[in-house]
Parts: sequence; C-alpha cells; structure tokens
Amino acid sequence: MDFIPVNEPLLNGNEKKYLCECIDTGWISSEGPFVKQFEEKMSFTVGRKYGVAVANGTAALEVAMQAIGVGKGDEVIMPAFTIISCAMAVTKLGAKPVLVDSNIDTWNMNIHEIEAKITDRTKAILVVHLYGLPVEMDGVLEIARRYHLKVVEDAAEMHGQTYRGKPCGSFGDISTFSFYPNKHVTTGEGGMVVTDDEELAERCQMLKNLCFRKDVRYVHDEISDNYRFTNLQAAVGLAQLERLGEFIERKRAMGKFYTQSFADLKGIQLPVAHTEYAENIYWVYGIVLNRDIEITNRDIIKLFTEEGVGTRTFFWCMHEQPVYKKLGFFVNEKYENAEYLARKGFYIPSGMALTKEQMKRVVDKTRSVLEKIK
Ligand SMILES: Cc1ncc(COP(=O)(O)O)c(C=O)c1O
Repeated sequence: MDFIPVNEPLLNGNEKKYLCECIDTGWISSEGPFVKQFEEKMSFTVGRKYGVAVANGTAALEVAMQAIGVGKGDEVIMPAFTIISCAMAVTKLGAKPVLVDSNIDTWNMNIHEIEAKITDRTKAILVVHLYGLPVEMDGVLEIARRYHLKVVEDAAEMHGQTYRGKPCGSFGDISTFSFYPNKHVTTGEGGMVVTDDEELAERCQMLKNLCFRKDVRYVHDEISDNYRFTNLQAAVGLAQLERLGEFIERKRAMGKFYTQSFADLKGIQLPVAHTEYAENIYWVYGIVLNRDIEITNRDIIKLFTEEGVGTRTFFWCMHEQPVYKKLGFFVNEKYENAEYLARKGFYIPSGMALTKEQMKRVVDKTRSVLEKIK
C-alpha cells in the first residue's frame, strides 16, 4: 500500500495554463503581470485594500513587523505556542517577544492573559490563528484600542476562514499569509502582507525589495531584504485562489468525516468543530493525546510511519526553543497549556488532494495505533 503523505496540494485547475503563459511570454520574474493581479485578487478576497506579495509567510511577518515600526527594545505580545517565524520576526529587529499561554480547547492564544503582559515598551500584539479556528478578535482589538497598540494578524493558515463573518486577514493594522503547499492557497513558497493603509503597503513594497530609493536606482538608505515573489508563483496562486471556496468545502468535509469516524475513540481530544464566532476550516486535522496517555507526539508519529501514514507533531513552544534559551530569552517562564499541546498534539493527513479512500485508511490506521498505546 502506498504511503499516505501528511499533505499533498491539488494543482489540477488553471495552474498549468497560467504557468505556460509565463513561459510563453518570458515573464518569470517579480516584474511579471500576474504578481499585481494576485496581490489585488488576494487582498480583495480577504477584504483589504492592498496586498504585497513576498517570498514566504515568514518574510511576510518580518516585513509587517518592520513596517509598523517594531525596533530595538520594543515588546510584542504573542502566543507561546506558535511557529518560530513569529518570534524570529520580532527578535531579528532587536525587539522582545512577550508570551501568553494557549486555550486548551481551541489551541489558540488565551487573550485574557494579554492585558497583564502590557508594559510601556509594548508596541504590538501579534495574533496567530492556529490550525483552523480564529482567535477571539473582538477582545484583542478592544485591548489594542485601549492601550494604543498595533495589531498584526498572522493569518498564514486561515485562507477562507472568517471571524463573525468577516474574513481572517482583515483585522488589525496589517495581516500576513503564507502560501506554503500545506496552505489552502499555495504557490510552492510564498507569502503576502495585506493592509488597508496605503503608507504601510508602500513601506512593505520597499522593504521586500532592498529599499531601493525611488528617485535613483541602486541607491539605498536602509537595510532590508530581497523577499520578492515571482510571476511563476503568482500564476499558481491565481489558479489556486479561483478554487478557494471549493477547497474550504473539501476541508470542512474532511474534518467532519474524521470527527465522526473518531467519535467513539477514548484517550484523545479532537478539534472543536465550531465556536460562537467561527466554524473550523481544519487547516490540518489535529489530535491531542489525553494526559493519562504516557507517550508523546514524537513517539506516536513513529507508529503512524510504520503504518504508512504521514503525520506531524504540533509546533514547539517559543520559550522552550534552544535558540532562545541560548540567547537568554524567557528565563524560567512556563506556559502549561502550550507545553502540553507541544508534547501531545499531532496532525494526520489533511492535504487538499487526500481521497476518501485514503481518509478511510487513515481512520483505520489511527484506530490501530491508538489500540497499541492503550
Ligand atoms: C501560523 C504560521 N505563521 C507563519 C508561517 C510561516 O510561513 P512560511 O512557511 O511560508 O514561511 C506558518 C507556516 O506554516 C504558519 O503556520
């Protein structure tokens, strides 16, 4: 039996057609016409005025942080449980990530811990929507308003998700997306910053392209990066965006199927299907082992591999990252729920190209693995 990969994208729409257009016209660089079209279509889809395509979701976070003016000595409040891109975007600028714990049910940041973490150095709140459900934005926006803080929204995993009917990616000062192949819209590698603020958008365009001076080429006043996004990537992205609605339906059907199939299983926590503000889009289908199960997610993914099923552990917490320990960040800090999710959470195959037959096999294999560890 073939190995079931944890993720496989679906590229059977107009991707090939648009890519051939790039080849036929010779437009393969970031100057090609699809880049602008993709920026416009993506920002329109998420209800923003401006989009700036960049090399990946990590670059999008870096550009966003730099654009809103995060710098040396500033603090940015973010979840302890997230991808390291979030913390790196802050520490690279000489600023400090200030962490909050997670909610054990939604796996998102506990917004009720934010206010106590605000100091006179706090510059921004970085909201990260994780695994399929959005963070409670009303609470975050209210705190940000009261303390005059910027809000950066990491919507990397949230293509097609809404919070109280409003698209994720439309909240706060600036939002970011990733188009890595496990995202609902992929361009291979890729990312985007979206905002309603024209000045911020212009600043992002500068920052992603070495801060070329507008009046004279090859003259630069600031340090920045080359995070440009190619016409080839945009060609794939445009074709993917055309199918976003269908992709979300597929993901929701997958989530429903897995949840129904696992309903009788003991010892595991399944994703919350919906909250009062959103229905889960199951960016990936996560499972968390109960406390009474002794083994960790690292052990369980080995068992799944033996069964021919690709799985991944959840993220590893920021305060437990060796690099940040070495640099003296987060000394003696503890975030109980975040640590628990990082040790006990994992996800099973959830890619867009997953077939019903594969899903059924994943369910059978999940049952056999859980039987073994009882
Ligand atoms: C929440 C979140 N933010 C940022 C990123 C980084 O995106 P990229 O891999 O495109 O750099 C990811 C990637 O999976 C992510 O899940």
